[in-house]
Amino acid sequence: MTSTVVVGGFFGDEGKGKIISYLAIKDNPKIIVRGGAGPNAGHTITDGDRVYKVRMLPSGFLNKDAKVMIGPGVVINPEVLKKEIEDFDVSGRSFIDKHCGIIEETHLNRDSKGELKEKIGSTGSGTGPANSDRAMRVLKLAKDFDSLSSLITDVPSEINSALSANEHVLIEGTQGTFLSLWHGTYPFVTSKDVTASGICADVGIGPTKVDEVIVVFKSYVTRVGTGPLDKELSLDEAEKKGWSEFGTVTGRQRRAADFDFDLARRAIMLNGATQISITKLDVLFSDCAGKTLYDELSDDAKSFIKNIEDELNTPVTIIGTGPAVNDVVDRR
Ligand code: IMP
Ligand code: MG
Repeated sequence: MTSTVVVGGFFGDEGKGKIISYLAIKDNPKIIVRGGAGPNAGHTITDGDRVYKVRMLPSGFLNKDAKVMIGPGVVINPEVLKKEIEDFDVSGRSFIDKHCGIIEETHLNRDSKGELKEKIGSTGSGTGPANSDRAMRVLKLAKDFDSLSSLITDVPSEINSALSANEHVLIEGTQGTFLSLWHGTYPFVTSKDVTASGICADVGIGPTKVDEVIVVFKSYVTRVGTGPLDKELSLDEAEKKGWSEFGTVTGRQRRAADFDFDLARRAIMLNGATQISITKLDVLFSDCAGKTLYDELSDDAKSFIKNIEDELNTPVTIIGTGPAVNDVVDRR
């Protein structure tokens, strides 16, 4: 049995999508399953000349031999999902659980105005209102829609059977630790818990079945939307450092700050991390761009990594050195 859970350690947008697609190809899991909130999450994956922006499908879909699944804890926008299945050529191997909640017009409308939009800076994807309806027990589920029946499978059973048969399963989280409804900077958070435990509950895997928890940190911190961000840089300063980024779902400019050890330490604790992945090392140290061997990294880059390992008492095993799926140093 080998199961790996990958979650974000800051405020989302740590580069999980790219790390997950690397693991999906490298480790060749039988199933790649997505937990998390819903289509409020956007992951960017670069494969050759092609750039994929995914909001619903698991980011590991590039591995054509794997089944990709969405767990019952996730709310789905059927139009977004169907378009991604078609555009990314994943039909026949994409599945959802019958208990996935379904986002409808009303949720999109309720998310596009009022408190959620103005105060929380929500993504407007309908995810929060749908999860709120689910808590009220009025949300419709995938099983209520004939048009979704061909996609439905029993996701928890599939995952647990694969693990019993010693197959590898990759479990991907969305958002990041400090956007968790329980552990984040409430009320400036998403509508679910998105730490490793929450992600496992979303897909139906119990705590004793988890082997590895990889927490992904970017080499600096970004946050899109409102809410506290310690030692936030001005947009000008962020731009100078090459840290100005724009949200995958909303296109909003992300706010930025230096790597935050206090947040990172807490993320390691909350997620029970066994490994750390650091992304965008090439943005801090341009001489690391595209490197795939640890020994090829500059001394400054190596001491940045070493310092993180010492401070957080957890090994940094996977290091992102560029946007392409294989721009990775893998020390596992
Ligand atoms: P909501 O989840 O759309 O309600 O948005 C709540 C807060 O979480 C807002 O600040 C969003 O910008 C943020 N958020 C939600 N999903 C993501 C994500 O995948 N990455 C980064 N921020 C997110
Ligand atoms: Mg994102």
